[in-house]
Amino acid sequence: MPDIGYWNGQFSSLQDIRLSPEDRGFLFGDGVYEVIRAYQGVPAFAGDHFNRLVRSAGEIRIPVPFDQATFQEILLSGIRQSGYSEVKIYIEITRGVAPRDHVFPAPCEPTVFFSFREMGKVPSEWRLKGVSVITVPDIRWNRCDIKSLNLLPNVLAKQQAKEAGVFEAIFIREGSVMEGATSNVFMVCQGGIYTPLINHQVLAGVTQQHVMRTAQRLGKGMECRSISLEELMRADEVFLTGTTIEILPVVAIDGCSVGQGEPGALTKELQRGFASLV
Ligand code: PDD
Repeated sequence: MPDIGYWNGQFSSLQDIRLSPEDRGFLFGDGVYEVIRAYQGVPAFAGDHFNRLVRSAGEIRIPVPFDQATFQEILLSGIRQSGYSEVKIYIEITRGVAPRDHVFPAPCEPTVFFSFREMGKVPSEWRLKGVSVITVPDIRWNRCDIKSLNLLPNVLAKQQAKEAGVFEAIFIREGSVMEGATSNVFMVCQGGIYTPLINHQVLAGVTQQHVMRTAQRLGKGMECRSISLEELMRADEVFLTGTTIEILPVVAIDGCSVGQGEPGALTKELQRGFASLV
């Protein structure tokens, strides 16, 4: 079965969707996106993703042309039509199509696009044995809380990680840990679990939120606070979170082992706690 897409109100095969070259998403990266995962045909944390999509769009003054009930219907219908049970759903809203001009077009009719593709399995070795990461300077803008289409620094950082033979690149801004190119970062120090402050310099991850709640449910000390690179390098455990990766232990940063160089006990406990959620 071909992969399914949804574009401006219509489902079709993904490959039949034709976008205008004057779409502002294409010309300016003028839009926002979300990635949702469905487990056994059920979209996970759809309400949280919808809220973040509406917030991101609102911050750049794009009206979201559907409500949460319609959003849920599109998700369920697309998942059903795709025939997949493990699904990676990509959602994009742009400011629409207009002759190229930086100023917003009036009227503005947003472009809405969803794709429904099979979710590839994260290698179990990554989950069980952990991954390595590098650190890179954070050259992004100051509104990383908006899940915007402008991902060039993330693309370059992720490519740098790939060329270094590691899974992820972690952005460092003025000595502080921000987040990964495609993930949020946590560290464990002396039994406490920490993730960087959630502000305009990082994306508030949906997985991050649920991992924080899982930690609290398990009675673990959990805090959002500024984390220096030195602290991260000395942490007992480090892990990454994200929709597609869930929780991945980090066992080396810039070639130096984290803790004992293997996934830590708290990370494994949170992996089990999160797995029971989804
Ligand atoms: N990215 N930080 C950044 C910069 C991200 O791109 C992502 C996810 C996250 C984790 O957020 P969440 O838990 O809500 O997926 C944090 C998606 C998966 C992507 O761009 O493909």
